[in-house]
Amino acid sequence: MLKTRLKKSLLAGCLLLLLNAAFAQTIDVKKEMAFAAQQYKGMLGSHPDLSKFPQSLLPDGTPKDMASSWWCSGFFGGSLWYLFESTRDTAWRNAAQKWTMAVEKEKNNTGTHDLGFMLYCPFGNGYRLTNNDGYRQIMLTGAASLATRFNPAYGVIKSWDGWKGYDYPVIVDNMMNLEFLFWAAKTSGNKFFYNASVTHADNTLKNHFRKDYSSYHVVCYGEAGKVLARKTHQGFSDSSAWSRGQAWGLYGYTVMYRETKQKKYLEQAEHIAQFILNHPNLPKDKIPYWDFNAPGIPAEERDASAGAVISSALFELSQYSRTNRKQYFTAATTILSSLASPAYKAALGSNGHFILKHSVGSKPHASEVDTPLVYADYYYLEALLRYDRLGKKQPLKFL
Ligand code: GLY
Repeated sequence: MLKTRLKKSLLAGCLLLLLNAAFAQTIDVKKEMAFAAQQYKGMLGSHPDLSKFPQSLLPDGTPKDMASSWWCSGFFGGSLWYLFESTRDTAWRNAAQKWTMAVEKEKNNTGTHDLGFMLYCPFGNGYRLTNNDGYRQIMLTGAASLATRFNPAYGVIKSWDGWKGYDYPVIVDNMMNLEFLFWAAKTSGNKFFYNASVTHADNTLKNHFRKDYSSYHVVCYGEAGKVLARKTHQGFSDSSAWSRGQAWGLYGYTVMYRETKQKKYLEQAEHIAQFILNHPNLPKDKIPYWDFNAPGIPAEERDASAGAVISSALFELSQYSRTNRKQYFTAATTILSSLASPAYKAALGSNGHFILKHSVGSKPHASEVDTPLVYADYYYLEALLRYDRLGKKQPLKFL
């Protein structure tokens, strides 16, 4: 009797050890954050003009900066908040405040669907960390601007005002703007934001995904929400799986589950995760090629930005999944380790002060191919912070 009990407790002990080993921290987050801080100190030094936001590098290695109206303008401020969150150094808070406010005027921009990226990444993180009521007001104005792009007769938020002869195109990337609207619904009590998000997500689920749970990039809608065409803009072909698009979908449906607790969104996120993680073209280091169906694989560019988004999303999804928790956490950690290795992480002072190398903006447009991208850095820092919290058995922090 005693022997059986002893055996049982030994077995339980071994299992616990194995489980702990599987979840063990293998990335030195403090060291990686210190490196990122050093690198971004250089970025701040090389960017004294608050109207010129770091975006990428040009082929000749000189900075490619952007105006606040470009979809990526909020990521730099967002990353500065992550550095403040990690270091608690007020110098980062001051820099983050400046680069966040530099995007303020976009709160009135009704010509883009990207206000989630542009406003929620800097102001949302800033509000989470400082409770600054001014940020809350700016975000509420911005969310109202974004909501003007939801036409109930179509049931989706319009991405672009016109594209290749279609006047109601929606890209899968748009799933990333819904988190902002959920925040606005909770903060303002206005259900319109919530309902628009859910309707958009439901129609995207119905119209953007293939049988294997990969997604089209662009769905062009006509009157009454009729699907007129399914196309690509940044992928290899209309029928291919553009990697960052898969990453946006994974992240977007994970957030949908967080905000609604509806099982169908968790299932969708898990299906997308399985498509990505089981794909025969996903390399061993789990950093995807720029398109899962790129014709020259393995002689094709990787997209570190897609890897960073997938890693961050999988850390969150690992908290919700009933059956694949460990698989997601392990895959997210593998991606993060790859990104933190010299294969993707720049040497100090190089790479135009960006943290990561080897992303792809748009290969079909020969734009930003195998370059650093400001949003790759943002989601990398986010993934590092998520990894750190989960390793310490702390819940992830959302607004
Ligand atoms: N939202 C545009 C992109 O992912 O490139």
